[in-house]
Amino acid sequence: MRFIFIFFIFLSFAHAKTPYEMGKELYLQKTCFSCHGNKAEGMHNYPRLANRAKGYLSYKLQNFRKNITSSQQQEMMVAFALGLSDDDIEALVTFLSEYKEDEMAESYDDSFDTAGDGGS
Ligand code: HEC
Repeated sequence: MRFIFIFFIFLSFAHAKTPYEMGKELYLQKTCFSCHGNKAEGMHNYPRLANRAKGYLSYKLQNFRKNITSSQQQEMMVAFALGLSDDDIEALVTFLSEYKEDEMAESYDDSFDTAGDGGS
């Protein structure tokens, strides 16, 4: 009996993860951060994803998964979207649309302004 009780406690912990947390894990696991930034703030040609409309992000990811893109630049995303399940996409877009700045604030300091230091 005690064993069963412990099992249920374990189960409830396993399910305690919110879609936001699952999305955050996926964002790191699937290396999305390497292009879209640790804070999903975007860089270079890679668009910002943080706090954008959930429906739009989900629409784009589902299209990429079906190999539907609207520019050559976007074709890069197909490979990253192919492995995503519906649940993965739902978790990712929940995380991205509801993204809170302080979540990964310790990862790096982007307040440094490179303008005028001779960098590109
Ligand atoms: C190798 C770099 C790279 C990686 C890794 C990557 N992306 Fe992208 N992503 C891009 C590029 C390039 C675009 C298209 C930019 C454009 O439209 O010009 C894009 C576009 C998107 C868009 C559409 C945004 C818009 O404004 O239309 C979403 C959503 C997105 N990526 C999510 C993700 C997610 C989620 C992951 C991880 C599973 C990921 N990306 C991994 C490069 C990358």
